[in-house]
Formats: sequence, C-alpha cells, structure tokens
Amino acid sequence: MTRAEELENRLKLLVDFGGAVSKETNLNKLLELIAHQVKEILGCDRCSVFILDRQTNALWSKLLLGSQNTEIRVPFGKGIAGHVAASGMILNIPDAYSDARFNRDPDRLTGYRTNSILAVPLKNVGGHIIGVFEAVNKIAGPFNTDDEGILQLISSLAASGIENAQLYESLSKSQLETIYRLAVTAEYRDQQDTAIHLRHISEYSALIALGLGLPEIEAENLRYASPLHDIGKVGIADAILLKPGKLTPEEFEEMKKHTVYGAKILSNAESHLLQIACKVAASHHEKFDGTGYPAKLKGEQIPIYARVVSVADVFDALCAQRVYKPKWDPQKAREYILEERGKAFDPNVVDAFDKVFVEILKMHALGDGKTTIIPGITKEMHRHDF
Ligand code: C2E
Ligand code: SIN
Ligand code: SIN
Ligand code: FE
Repeated sequence: MTRAEELENRLKLLVDFGGAVSKETNLNKLLELIAHQVKEILGCDRCSVFILDRQTNALWSKLLLGSQNTEIRVPFGKGIAGHVAASGMILNIPDAYSDARFNRDPDRLTGYRTNSILAVPLKNVGGHIIGVFEAVNKIAGPFNTDDEGILQLISSLAASGIENAQLYESLSKSQLETIYRLAVTAEYRDQQDTAIHLRHISEYSALIALGLGLPEIEAENLRYASPLHDIGKVGIADAILLKPGKLTPEEFEEMKKHTVYGAKILSNAESHLLQIACKVAASHHEKFDGTGYPAKLKGEQIPIYARVVSVADVFDALCAQRVYKPKWDPQKAREYILEERGKAFDPNVVDAFDKVFVEILKMHALGDGKTTIIPGITKEMHRHDF
C-alpha cells in the first residue's frame, strides 16, 4: 500500500468510527468498540482505554484487547498513562522497558510483553482530561507521527462518546426510576393517563430528534429528559391546575410559573441528563417567534431540546382529553402543528415531526387504550442496560 492509499484507508475507518461511537451509550460496549477500532486503524496489538476516576484520582482500565481482560488501576501521575493524564501531552515510546516512567506491574500480572506505546490524553469539550488512550505494540515498527495524529483525532471523537456514556452510568437505574416516578407524581393530578402521556412525550421527542438528524445520543437524551418537562406543575395549586374550564388571565399567569418551578427543581444538577431536563422544563413553552413564556426567547435562543419537546408536548396535549378541553383528532392536531410552523415552532422541528408522523401516529394508537400500561416505568424506558 502506498502512503496515500494507507491514509485514505484510515480515513474511511475513521469516518465509520465516528458514526459508531456516537451511537453507543453503554460505556463497556463503547470502550470495547473503541479499543477494537483503534487496533484496526493503527495496526497494533492492543489498545487500552484508561478512564480517570474523579473521586479517587486514579486511572482504571478494563480493556486489554489482545491479551487477557484484566482491570488495571494506575495512580494519577504514575506509569505512562498516568504521566499523560497528568501532563496532557502525547507520549510516543518506542521501547517501554527502557523508559523509566513505564509501569511494569500490568505486564507482570498478565504475562504480556509491552514494546511500543503511543499514549494520548482523552479530553472532553471543556478541555478537561477524562482519561488516556494507549495503543500498544505496533505490528510494523514503532509508532510514527501519522499514528500520533490519528490517535489524537480518534481520542477527540471518542472522548465525547465516553463522556456521554459515563453520564448515563452515573445515573443508576434506581435514580432514573425515582426521577420518572417523580414526573408521574407531578402530572397525575391533571391527567388520568399520565404514564401514557409521559411515554408519548418521550417517544415522540426521540422520534422527532432522529427525524431532525440529531445524533442518536441526543435522541436518547431527549427520551429520558423529556418526561420531566412539566415537573414544575407540582407547585401549581389544584384550584388552577384542575379547573374544569378556561383559566382567567391571572390564573394563567400563575400556571405559566410551572416552567420556572420546574427549572428550579432541576437546577444545579450534576447529571448531564438532568441539565437537559432543566432546559426543557424551563423553555418548553417558549415560541420560535418570541411570543412564548417565561423568557420570550426566540429562535435558536431556545435550546434545541426544548424546541423538540414543545412540538411533542402540544401534539400530545391536543390529542388528549384534559379537564379543560376534549381530545382532538390526531390529523387535526397535525394540521395545527403545521400551521404553527415558524410561529410557535421551529420550522425544522415541524418538518421532522411531519417526516416521522406515521410512526408518531402508531405510538399514539398504542397508547389509546389498546394496550395496558402499568403506571410507572415503561418497557421502552429500559431498552438500555445501564
Ligand atoms: P397542557 O394541558 O399539557 O397543554 C400543553 C400545551 O398544549 C398548551 O400550553 C398549549 O400550547 C397546547 N394546548 C393544549 N390544549 C390546547 C387547545 O385546546 N388549543 C390549543 N391551540 N393549544 C392547546 P399552554 O397553553 O401554555 O398551557 C400550559 C398548561 O396550562 C397546560 O398544559 C394546562 O395544564 C394549563 N392550561 C392551559 N390552559 C388551560 C385552561 O384553559 N384551563 C385549565 N384548567 N388549564 C389550562
Ligand atoms: C503504563 O501506562 O505505564 C503501563 C500500562 C500498560 O501496560 O499499558
Ligand atoms: C426518566 O424518565 O428519566 C427515565 C425513565 C427510566 O428509565 O426509568
Ligand atoms: Fe408545560
């Protein structure tokens, strides 16, 4: 292979890699995928991904493809990986055993013989180091400067995927359940079919996100964050929330505060998912033309997550019966959404909604009493092993 052919080949692998990484939300599977691809792209025997544990400040690695699967822990600053994590600099070591920084313990444990190491830091978008990538034992000679560039590129692609997967893992299943039950509690006062409504919002939002061409990880973010959009309704008095008729202007002003309450409940969360949920709760009643509430945000000032959920929310609210309104036919609701294109809603989001409308309709029909849905956690919400 000529150098040009080789580079082209690697570029192709890289493009595949970018696509695959953005789709995997399970951390272990993602790390496996990354390690496998790095071996392929760089032509090396092993790839270890070290993840920085912020609590203990140690690096851990579960993956040692090409030899046994053993977990390694390295103190921050120790070993090649530790040095790279501490300095943020790439290290290209042709012969590990003649480098004083190299930590021989893992080799002793596994019986592996490390020769060459190319180690690059994994940095998140904020520039913080979240781990280290090590490509080990290049098959043909030591790692060169092309390899350095490629591994750096890979690591920047991988870092955001790894961080996303970590954020999912940081929320345990039981935490997610608690959140979900909280959302149900907040809504069951004004809706008989809360579980169905929340499931609809969740599914519609994810479908629309995919229709928009957002990465799958963002669709998943929306799937889990969207059910919390109305959580602020817990702060609205029954007399207003359950009023069987039109609200007075004063009552509606009070009602509007559910966005602000929701944002407050979800504010300062550490989890990425709850940060998204916070934006959605705050801005799902903003309108694209700037006439919504509470902040009268306009266009792209409104977080994309909220622009998506707002379409899902209104569509489902229209199709459902409320104490203050009968249910609409889904086709009439669709027409309403289309009419509001560029007014209440982002035109692109409306187009995406229309693109996936058939699937939305299927979901809608499912929730219409044709299946029994136990209030609480729905199956769809556990499609992933966290
Ligand atoms: P919700 O019932 O979940 O409705 C969410 C959004 O769907 C509404 O946001 C509105 O944009 C849309 N929507 C719902 N029903 C209709 C409808 O019949 N016609 C049209 N054109 N749009 C509809 P909005 O208006 O900001 O209301 C937010 C929340 O305030 C509602 O959530 C509901 O809980 C409450 N609310 C609004 N109007 C009334 C009312 O007249 N009486 C009562 N009791 N509650 C109301
Ligand atoms: C090191 O980072 O110094 C050793 C870890 C390894 O064996 O790859
Ligand atoms: C959520 O609604 O936040 C997630 C639901 C779940 O997975 O339990
Ligand atoms: Fe709302």
